Amino acid sequence: MRSLVAAACAGLLLSAAPAALAAPQSQRAAAPAVAPILTTPEAKDAMTYARPEIARVTHVDLDLAVDFDQQTLSGTAALSVLAQPGAKEIILDSENLAVTRVTDDKGRALPWTIGAAEPEKGAPLTVQLNGAKRIIVHYTARPGASALQWLPPALTAGKKKPFLFSQGQAINNRSWIPTQDSPGIRQTWTARLVVPEDLMAVMSAERLTPEGEPAGDGRRAFRFAMDKPVPPYLIALAVGDLAFRPLGPRTGVYAEPSMLDRAAYELADTEKMVEVAEKLYGPYRWGRYDVLVLPPAFPYGGMENPTLTFLTPTFLTGDRSNVNLVAHELAHSWSGNLVTNATWPDGWLNEGFTSYFENRIMEGMYGRERAVLEADLDWDVLMREIELAGGMDAPATRLRGDDGEESGQIDYIKGSLFLRTLETILGRERWDAYLTSYFNRHAFQPQTTAGFLADLRQHVVKGDKALEEKLQLDKWAYGTGLPDNAVRLHSEALAAVDAQVKAFAEDDASAASLQTKGWSTQEWLRFVGNLPRALSAEKLADLDKAFNLSRSPNAYVRSAWLELAIANRWEPAVPALEEFLNSVGRTLFLRPLYRELKEQGDWGMAIAKRAYATARDTYHPNTASTIDAILK
Ligand code: BES
Ligand code: ZN
Repeated sequence: MRSLVAAACAGLLLSAAPAALAAPQSQRAAAPAVAPILTTPEAKDAMTYARPEIARVTHVDLDLAVDFDQQTLSGTAALSVLAQPGAKEIILDSENLAVTRVTDDKGRALPWTIGAAEPEKGAPLTVQLNGAKRIIVHYTARPGASALQWLPPALTAGKKKPFLFSQGQAINNRSWIPTQDSPGIRQTWTARLVVPEDLMAVMSAERLTPEGEPAGDGRRAFRFAMDKPVPPYLIALAVGDLAFRPLGPRTGVYAEPSMLDRAAYELADTEKMVEVAEKLYGPYRWGRYDVLVLPPAFPYGGMENPTLTFLTPTFLTGDRSNVNLVAHELAHSWSGNLVTNATWPDGWLNEGFTSYFENRIMEGMYGRERAVLEADLDWDVLMREIELAGGMDAPATRLRGDDGEESGQIDYIKGSLFLRTLETILGRERWDAYLTSYFNRHAFQPQTTAGFLADLRQHVVKGDKALEEKLQLDKWAYGTGLPDNAVRLHSEALAAVDAQVKAFAEDDASAASLQTKGWSTQEWLRFVGNLPRALSAEKLADLDKAFNLSRSPNAYVRSAWLELAIANRWEPAVPALEEFLNSVGRTLFLRPLYRELKEQGDWGMAIAKRAYATARDTYHPNTASTIDAILK
């Protein structure tokens, strides 16, 4: 009985699948008003309470006031519901929300309950529908919401006004939006944000009121609309003292006014990047591509919020050497935002595809050697991460993971190697044509590892046994470590760096005599990364004197250097280290530094605890819990 109901319902909910599924591969599917869901067993999301096959959210209208004093968002979320006939209730995700009432469209109260909370997952919010097709949740997102970071003026560039931003991925948005927070349940949305009138609000959607509208009481309102169905983790906001500068016809940058010049310089190639990406894998479907540069507390390098990539300011190194970050977030406009991992254990479908695509954009923009250089450097990172995960047989080295498994950058780099291996075996032309058609055929839909492999077999392998054997698809997707057909690339520029490492470490050349002229961030990273892990105090001092590494304005280089300094318990770097831990919130930099401090026993833990006592409050809630776990 139950399964029949579910099956009938799945039919109903899937009936809105894009008609273009059957259209020629060259033709792109239009965004469907209601995106289909997947009902296969491996597409079941353990991190949501929602039962979308019974009742699901298809659209969200937010109307929220931003209160910097209380650190709350409060107002309403109106949800459009698609339910099977006779469905009595809808289950939403919520985390620490203060819900005051739920009504239907006509203001009639609907019964609701919030169940027991689980760590991270939050609590189910169950609403009795009483036939309603649209329900309105009145609520407040309490202080401490896991998706939100409220920055005091001191943590901004301008130091005068506060800043707020959200980070939805992976399951944080339920702390400020009562909806079905699962990547397989796509929703269109609109929002109205009311903020203090001296601040600007931006969101990951079309910005309908760039200047805002008067909202009384010294406040301004900003309105937004996303007419394409997106997974809810891609709903994002930022509020602060922001200015905008166009970069090209459909690209631009938002940043605090004092950072705008530097940001615009670093991002000068953005418009061309969109063009290069489109030439590779088909049209950019999201309208504008703008970038928002956040304060240094932003916990990631970048976040692919649609129409508005969020970026760390640490990428502003003055030499445009980290624009692969932009290439990466832009690439998510296809892999991730158009075709989306159905559940988080399939996250490599987002990150691995994107890292591959990122590298292709870098090649298209700056040539083969630049792309090879980044791939070569990534190989080193992958080897380090596999070791940290417990070696080639460790379960955490699998692409298709388990819930709650920490895979670090393995998803990214192993995933990208997988696709590069496919490219190499199939030939670029055939592979690129396939990938373009894959994005088009699955646009605005969730995807699973099994779904991708089935698609590849149907469209490319087509029963060719020899080819099947060569590709080792299942080994890549489900096995640990690295299959033996992995294609490794070697960079000549990095080989030259290695020669300098050898001169310094083995042949005792002085730091000042090394040939480092014109090195980019990547070359410095290879240099610092390949130095022997144990170095004498004299050698460390020589390097720091010649290259000013402890105080490098380049956060990538500085953090790699500080890691090496900690490993050698080199005291002169400690003040610079403590300052770094107290000024940068990017988890990618912080995690290895705290890990290495812990590795160094009492000496390191004393430094870590001292720095963390003041730094913790400036970190994103996610980052703080990552560091808590390291130091506990
Ligand atoms: N989507 C990720 C950021 C993310 C990952 C947020 C996991 C929450 C959980 C983003 O696209 C990303 O991968 N950023 C990288 C960029 C780098 C690989 C170029 C980062 O933040 O370092
Ligand atoms: Zn990514």
